[in-house]
Amino acid sequence: MIKCCGFFLVVIAMSVMATKTMAQGAWDTAHATFYGDMSGGETMQGACGYGDLFQQGYGLETAALSTALFNNGQTCGACFEIQCYDDPQWCAPGSITITATNFCPPNYSKPGDDGGWCNPPRKHFDLSMPMFVKIVKDYHAGIVPVQFRRVTCVKQGGMRFEIKGNPYWILVLVYNVAGDVVAVSVKGSSTDWIAMSRNWGQNWQTGTQLVGQSLSFKVTTSDGRTVESDNAVPSNWQFGQNYEGGQF
Ligand SMILES: *[C@@H]1O[C@H](CO)[C@@H](O)[C@H](O)[C@H]1NC(C)=O
Repeated sequence: MIKCCGFFLVVIAMSVMATKTMAQGAWDTAHATFYGDMSGGETMQGACGYGDLFQQGYGLETAALSTALFNNGQTCGACFEIQCYDDPQWCAPGSITITATNFCPPNYSKPGDDGGWCNPPRKHFDLSMPMFVKIVKDYHAGIVPVQFRRVTCVKQGGMRFEIKGNPYWILVLVYNVAGDVVAVSVKGSSTDWIAMSRNWGQNWQTGTQLVGQSLSFKVTTSDGRTVESDNAVPSNWQFGQNYEGGQF
């Protein structure tokens, strides 16, 4: 029985995997503008707590999200497919995929339909100029309606853990994750699993002393998947260094 159906089980397993890696949300509508110039503009820091976006593998394929989409940082690291929508004058065909890496703050001194694009309850993506011009005929479009949906992120290599803080308060930036992280636990070589709390963006904290211990991490994304990276960090780890874990 098992022998006869092995091939079909493989086919089923492969289609389940394909469905997982191609997972997409439903289309929704928003607007998009751009910041900076063709050099890309802001690629350092930001409200998700990432550092140098080029060094960390995000490049220019990023966006700052309005309050309605940013979800207090919980959306940091999520990927979206975006295409210009219902604007024949300015829309170019095709779509882009970006990672949420920053927050587009409201500006209540401007109305939502005239400059206050990121004011609640507006759904808005502020794109780098090189990404914006991929979905419009010309950057003079300024602001365009878009369709967007959540897609599974594709990342090169394992997720990374950058350790910051001090011996009494450890802050771990979790980046290059194929998804938006909603929970992180850490286990030192002489501790049990410890749930970390979100400090800001994708920086996760614990007050447990872990200096001199090798560290394992469990990372969960919003779609409920968890990856455990056993001993991803060696016992001689240093503050300011980053270490590679598993990947979704
Ligand atoms: C908000 O908009 C006003 C009016 O255009 C502008 O003067 C101000 O600099 C803006 N504030 C921020 C934080 O961008």
